[in-house]
Amino acid sequence: GTGGTASGGGGAYPDRTITFVVPFSAGGPTDTVTRMIAEPMGAKLGGKIVVQNVEGAGGTVGAGEVARAEPDGYTVLMHHIGMSTAPALYQDLGYQPLESFEMVGLVTEVPMTVVARKDFEPATLQDLVTYVKANASKVTLANAGIGAASHLCGLLFQTAAGVKLQEVPYEGTGPALTDLVGGQVDFMCDQTTNTSGQISAKEVKVYAVTTPERVGSLPDVPTTAEAGLPQLEVSVWHGLYAPKGTPPDVVSKLSEALKTALADQKVIDQMAKLGTAPVPAEDATPEAHRTKLQEQLGTWAKVIADAGVKAG
Ligand code: MLT
Repeated sequence: GTGGTASGGGGAYPDRTITFVVPFSAGGPTDTVTRMIAEPMGAKLGGKIVVQNVEGAGGTVGAGEVARAEPDGYTVLMHHIGMSTAPALYQDLGYQPLESFEMVGLVTEVPMTVVARKDFEPATLQDLVTYVKANASKVTLANAGIGAASHLCGLLFQTAAGVKLQEVPYEGTGPALTDLVGGQVDFMCDQTTNTSGQISAKEVKVYAVTTPERVGSLPDVPTTAEAGLPQLEVSVWHGLYAPKGTPPDVVSKLSEALKTALADQKVIDQMAKLGTAPVPAEDATPEAHRTKLQEQLGTWAKVIADAGVKAG
């Protein structure tokens, strides 16, 4: 019969609007990266892509919603390193990163910056470590909730500095940065895709980038290693996910569209301005994505356990 394909798979896909779920607030780094690729991906797929922000619990609320969505290719999740830290941080997560999703491909790996409100006393990263040790009870560290990239980086900072700080959770580092600029919170570790503008505008103080090499678009910012805190090294990888059971031909259409978007000069230029770059084409594949996620799940489970953090 001509019942069409229930899942909207095969030639028919896409025959209606596709939703890209961002599990953090609008205006933050995850949202920014998603909106960069949504337009060229939609063009390649021959369909419209809308971006929907589903916040909460360090990205796990949005991830859970996509895990439970219809596996028809019309709900896709953009997520980052938080997909690999959440199992070690949440007891009843409601999804299994490797089981509940089809991997579509890796997108980009983004450096982080250690930034503070512009009149915060410490001048350098070393001063920051000294200051937080002496003032641990009153310093506030912003993040986007347990399981966010900013949370992980904050954890690594506290472990390296040997200190436990008061954490202030937001629904995303977009709103967190607004409060940092407003002086409502002391410092934060966040991705260059969010902080670059405020760093250039001198609306925040920047101590370091958390990558082994300096970031081309932030040439004057030292690496954490140069600034004396080599243990604080982390960059935020991102991938696209579809619910488990999404038809393989739909997943491969999404992966091909992702590759096209990552080769789009406008995307390359936008990412370069914000301190990052698309992954190579061979990494924008389900296989490379699965390999990365498997390796990262192991890495962060150990780091989080070694930091004495128990799943809550
Ligand atoms: C965001 O998009 O708000 C960030 O990715 C949150 C985080 O992971 O720190």
